[in-house]
Amino acid sequence: MSVRNILLHPDPRLKKVATPVTSVSDELRQLADDMLETMYDAPGIGLAAPQVAVMNRMIVMDCAKDEDATPEPMVLINPEVVWTSDEQSVYDEGCLSIPEHYAEVERPAEVEVSWMNLNGKIQREHFDGLWATCVQHEIDHLDGKLFIDYLRPLKRQMITRKMQKLKREMARG
Ligand code: NI
Repeated sequence: MSVRNILLHPDPRLKKVATPVTSVSDELRQLADDMLETMYDAPGIGLAAPQVAVMNRMIVMDCAKDEDATPEPMVLINPEVVWTSDEQSVYDEGCLSIPEHYAEVERPAEVEVSWMNLNGKIQREHFDGLWATCVQHEIDHLDGKLFIDYLRPLKRQMITRKMQKLKREMARG
């Protein structure tokens, strides 16, 4: 397993719609392992393939975040939201591609998601709490959408300008 480089906003690859996975290959399994390692290393609770510059519809997540909690790594291939609750919830969201910026985003409080697992089997599960927010945030990445796209334009532009500045500073070393 190896930690991959996480793309930082703004990057055109983070705005693209990712391609569905047609079959589970060894390469895809390797990518899933690397994405989990990259996510835990960051540390974060979710990561989508486009964030490591692979334009496939795959996400990983683990929202069992308490120090004492048993890790619950999940790999979701071609995930689709198939049901959302009318009830909404608000979380202070962040993103590994937009480090150190957080903002409140409102989303359905509960969702049902179907996906293919690494054995090629279709699974379906109900998510609530942080898991529901996380899975929706990660699926958004597969459609080229970031959590800042839910914010008012002024706030979004402010974050983008700060990220541009950060990237210029990083490039200079
Ligand atoms: Ni994100």
